[in-house]
Amino acid sequence: MTTDTSARPLVSVKDVNKHYGQLHVLQNINLEVNKGEVVVVIGPSGSGKSTLCRAINRLETIEGGEIFIDGKKLPEEGKELARLRADVGMVFQSFNLFAHKTILENVTLGPIKVKGVDKATAEKDAMALLERVGVAHQAPKLPAQLSGGQQQRVAIARALAMKPKVMLFDEPTSALDPEMINEVLDVMVQLAKEGMTMIVVTHEMGFARKAADRVVFMADGQIVEQAKPEEFFTNPQSSRAKDFLSKLLTH
Ligand SMILES: Nc1ncnc2c1ncn2[C@@H]1O[C@H](COP(=O)(O)OP(=O)(O)OP(=O)(O)O)[C@@H](O)[C@H]1O
Ligand SMILES: [Mg+2]
Repeated sequence: MTTDTSARPLVSVKDVNKHYGQLHVLQNINLEVNKGEVVVVIGPSGSGKSTLCRAINRLETIEGGEIFIDGKKLPEEGKELARLRADVGMVFQSFNLFAHKTILENVTLGPIKVKGVDKATAEKDAMALLERVGVAHQAPKLPAQLSGGQQQRVAIARALAMKPKVMLFDEPTSALDPEMINEVLDVMVQLAKEGMTMIVVTHEMGFARKAADRVVFMADGQIVEQAKPEEFFTNPQSSRAKDFLSKLLTH
């Protein structure tokens, strides 16, 4: 085997800027995430974490800078965008499952419609994924018949069904009842262990400590500092991070 010395980042965000009117919501953002790396993004409300996630998935336009997924520049639109977007799995705070489709259909829809996978194969793959996230026996049900934690695990399976190169999670547990948070975090920790490249917006420090390679702290549209989780939580450098962590800890 040859060692790959030319390893390029799987996600590369270069000098990205975005405004909402007067608000400079992303200010010269630079972020590189390597294959297999797990990056937790943390920061006060309104700091631009969700906007950054949506920009990486091109659900938001950017004004300046460039974003590369596995070396390919995210295009503005068209077929190539659809293809690249399939490389980026996204899980939101609200599960966004299709209410009138079964759990199984929710997971098979993307592969069948976007990737042209035949139904039997899509269903076989979907059942394996539902098994992996622990909800296989719920396959024939509708989303409303599942708990929030179960629905979020389905949302993760649905994203994985597209065989993404990187998974983005935007506060995946913040809408859940406390007793359901761990069942979702456990699935995410497992994914991380299996080598999935992940960008995770979360304030769950337990997850960050257990699974993250790096914590990125955002405030006011900027990346203020980044460090290994232990380092960041025990010895934050910036006053913004110190302030934020003290509030988080005293909640
Ligand atoms: N579509 C939009 N139009 C105008 N302003 C927006 C829009 N979306 C977000 N914003 C503003 O941009 C800023 C950053 O929002 P964003 O949702 O990225 O923050 P966040 O860090 O994810 O916050 P939270 O922790 O509350 O989820 C906020 O001030 C928000 O009000
Ligand atoms: Mg957000």
